[in-house]
Amino acid sequence: MKISYNGWDREYQENREMYHILFDQAMVKEVEGSTEGLESAIASYTGRSHCVAVANATDALRFSLWGIGPGDEVLVSDFSWISTSSCISMVGATPVFCDISLQSYHITLDSIKRMTTNKTKALIYTHLYGSMSDTKEIEHWCINNGIRFIEDSAQSLGSSLGGRKAGTIGECSSYSFNGNKVVAGISGGGMFMTDNKEHADYVKRVRRHGKDKDFTELGYNSKMFITNADIIQYRLTQMPKWQERRNEIAAIYTKELKYDVICQNIPVALEHNFHKFVIRFEGKEQRKRVKDALKTIGLNASIHYEKPLSKNSLYITQKHRKYRPVDSTLGNSRIASDTVMSLPIHAWLTDEEIDKIFNTILMAI
Ligand SMILES: Cc1ncc(COP(=O)(O)O)c(C=O)c1O
Repeated sequence: MKISYNGWDREYQENREMYHILFDQAMVKEVEGSTEGLESAIASYTGRSHCVAVANATDALRFSLWGIGPGDEVLVSDFSWISTSSCISMVGATPVFCDISLQSYHITLDSIKRMTTNKTKALIYTHLYGSMSDTKEIEHWCINNGIRFIEDSAQSLGSSLGGRKAGTIGECSSYSFNGNKVVAGISGGGMFMTDNKEHADYVKRVRRHGKDKDFTELGYNSKMFITNADIIQYRLTQMPKWQERRNEIAAIYTKELKYDVICQNIPVALEHNFHKFVIRFEGKEQRKRVKDALKTIGLNASIHYEKPLSKNSLYITQKHRKYRPVDSTLGNSRIASDTVMSLPIHAWLTDEEIDKIFNTILMAI
């Protein structure tokens, strides 16, 4: 038996009829429809004044960096998905990699302070694994130093901390709808959100080849496929019930595993979407043993992420700056890369599968 990692195959079986209706409408809608329904749904969820659907969140992040380019530096976590830093390289600016906390896996103010220079123009803040930390001090640091706070909320749709939703913090934010997210499109998808009309208008132009009256600036082909937008909009209505189940599963994993592995620290005020449930081992060997054991029950457990961003071959050729830990062997992002593992956590995971997963981990440790 194979344990489904994201569950979308099972979700499709549950909602086949609805999807067939949407597909029936698709041939007409692709010509006449628009992504406005989804954009309005996200605007009313977030309260953001402008939401613009794009092809993926990597583009949304790149478009967030409007006005930033060669000679500018952008602070970013060294422990995230590649898009968080590649978007900076795409606009010709320099990613400046900062270290994380091993409790939250989020970038730390201490590291941000050490890496800020007079070239720093922006900070991209990622709520990794869908979890959130209190960012107020970091936001103040940014305001006081003229640094733009850009939120990478790709993984955190549905999460909020002390009533502040991910997707509403800083000058602009983005969500991803790729296949491993809590709400996925059938061909990925991204949403750019801001309260700045000029910035939103820029994104509306560049997602469509830079078209205004004519082609006024260099743009991209980053439109969202309209049927995809309809499916995402439908799935958004299901999100609260899916999130409830993910939280139930997280509570079981935590109860069963917390004495044997390190579970992520969850702030009390956090409403967590549990995009990922991440555990940490003593070291690489223990992790490998567990990963191999999970394979025997049909589960290919993922590691997010195998390397700190700055250690990828890309950054041999791309201009970047990296923090220097006091002891250069002890960067937290490297420790995390060597020891983390993500367990499946989706609404279609059965109790039997959950039992099997944590029991296999406990036996292999
Ligand atoms: C933290 C983070 N940022 C950005 C992205 C980019 O999203 P997309 O795949 O929609 O381009 C992802 C996607 O996995 C992500 O996890």
